[in-house]
Amino acid sequence: MFIVSALRPGVLVELGVYRGTSYCAFCQTVKKLGFGTTCHGVDSWEGDGQAGQVSAVDLARLKAHHDPLYGSFSELVQSTFDGALDHFADGSIDLLHIDGYHSYEAVSHDFESWLPKMSERGVVLFHDVNVRQSGFGVWKYWEEVSAKYKHLTLLHGHGLGVLGVGSNFPEDVRELFDADKNDLLTIRNFFHQLGARIDAIWQYHSQSEQFAELKTYEATVKKSWVMRAYRMLRFKGLAGFTRKIRPAPMKSGEKRDESSFNGLPPLTNDRHNVDRGVETR
Ligand SMILES: C[S@@+](CC[C@H](N)C(=O)[O-])C[C@H]1O[C@@H](n2cnc3c(N)ncnc32)[C@H](O)[C@@H]1O
Repeated sequence: MFIVSALRPGVLVELGVYRGTSYCAFCQTVKKLGFGTTCHGVDSWEGDGQAGQVSAVDLARLKAHHDPLYGSFSELVQSTFDGALDHFADGSIDLLHIDGYHSYEAVSHDFESWLPKMSERGVVLFHDVNVRQSGFGVWKYWEEVSAKYKHLTLLHGHGLGVLGVGSNFPEDVRELFDADKNDLLTIRNFFHQLGARIDAIWQYHSQSEQFAELKTYEATVKKSWVMRAYRMLRFKGLAGFTRKIRPAPMKSGEKRDESSFNGLPPLTNDRHNVDRGVETR
C-alpha cells in the first residue's frame, strides 16, 4: 500500500476490521516494509446495520490467520471505537483508517473523537467517500472536511479519501496532496488501474475456490436423498414411489410446512441441503 510506504507510520489504527480484508492488507504491507510500525485493529465484532452480522466464528477465523502472521506487531482490539480511545495517547497515531458505520453522524463522530489522537504527520483515510446509497453519508462529510485540510480523493470503487490532518508530512505524502490537476488525473488513473488488476486476481482466487467446491458436487448429488428417491421412482414406478415417500399422516392440530418435501429440506441447489442425504421411508 503506497500510503504506508510513503508515510512510514509508527502507529497505524483501523476502525472497523470486520473479516480483516483491509486490515490484513495493512499488516501485510507493514510486515514487508519492516519500518517497525505497530498496528491496532479496533472492532466490536458485533457487526452493524450496513456490514451485517459478524459472528464469533468470523473473529476466530481472522485471529487464526492474523496472529501467527502479524501478532508480533499487531493486535486485534475487541471494543467499541469510543471504548478504545483511552488505549491511545494524544498525538500518537500516524495513520488512521475509518471504516465503521457509514452514516454522516457516525463518520463525523468517529473522525472528531479520534482527531486529537493524530500525530503531526497524521493522515486519516476515509472509506466509501463515493457511495451515495441511502444511509451512507461519508461522501457528504468528506465534502465538508476535505475543504479544511490537505487531501486526495480517489474515486474508483467505493472511493477513498486521504486527509492530511498533520503539518509535517514526508515528501512523498506532500507531493500527493500538492498534485496539480494533470498529476491528479494520472494518480487517480494509476490507482484505478492498479485496483482493477488486484481485483481481477482476487476474483480468480475466489472463483477457483468455488470451482473446487463445485467439482465435489456431482458425487454429493449422487449420494443425496433426491437421487435415492429418483432411483425408487424408476424401479417402483410412480404409484410405488408416491406411496413410499408420502408424508406421514399429520397429528391433530399439526400444520404442514408446504416448503418442505415429506419433512425433508426444501429442494434447492444449496449444497448443504442436498448434502443431508436424508433417508426416504
Ligand atoms: C464496513 S465493516 C469494516 C470492513 C473492513 N474494513 C474490511 O475491509 O472488510 C464495519 C465494521 O465496523 C464495526 N463497527 C461499526 N461501528 C462500530 C463502533 N462504533 N464500534 C466498534 N465497531 C464498530 C462493525 O462491527 C463492522 O465489523
